[in-house]
Amino acid sequence: MPDKPVNPACLRNQGPIEAALASRLPSGTRVLELGSGTGQHAVFIAARRPDLVWQASEQADHMMGLQQWITEANLANLLPPKVIDLNHWPQGLTGFGAVYTANLVHYVPKALVDVLIAGIAAAVVPGGQVLFYGPFNESGFTSAGNAQLDAWLKESVNADAGLWERAALANLAAKHDLAFDESVTMPNNNVLLVFKKFG
Ligand SMILES: C[S@@+](CC[C@H](N)C(=O)[O-])C[C@H]1O[C@@H](n2cnc3c(N)ncnc32)[C@H](O)[C@@H]1O
Repeated sequence: MPDKPVNPACLRNQGPIEAALASRLPSGTRVLELGSGTGQHAVFIAARRPDLVWQASEQADHMMGLQQWITEANLANLLPPKVIDLNHWPQGLTGFGAVYTANLVHYVPKALVDVLIAGIAAAVVPGGQVLFYGPFNESGFTSAGNAQLDAWLKESVNADAGLWERAALANLAAKHDLAFDESVTMPNNNVLLVFKKFG
């Protein structure tokens, strides 16, 4: 079997993310992760939080590495990963106490974020949480590095991708019954945006 793919950024940010989630995700929460990438966050957090049930997911053509990480981790609370492509949101994805994404919102075209928010709102239970980790703008870029990332995304990933203003995301989320709750400052000009579903 080939070596697992390793994202060095995950090795740097997984500790701070797990610490930020520790006080926010109550014991027993079923968490849906979208755009899990290699699955390093899923494995790192699930290993330290056996009281959570973690459902990772990815697009079909990114499943191999994710599957490898999850199979190797062999954790009872880390479910087999699901294929979820935001372009084809699956029916019946409901009942999660929390939905988590890392570095996804800026990576996909703006129109797909509408689909993402609508799907998340349907997937999370009333009173549940939605947690977006990554770089977001606060009345513009918060660092030169984030501005460079935005330019790279538009040039190399998709012309309609790029960093979101936190307030714009909050306005969109509010249309789907998701209320902005807090912005947690994270290392390297990232944040954890927390939303709560009305109910
Ligand atoms: C910047 S990576 C972040 C990966 C991981 N969450 C992390 O923080 O290391 C963005 C991820 O979004 C996924 N992605 C892109 N378009 C997607 C789509 N339409 N549906 C689901 N996932 C998508 C990519 O496959 C990729 O793994």
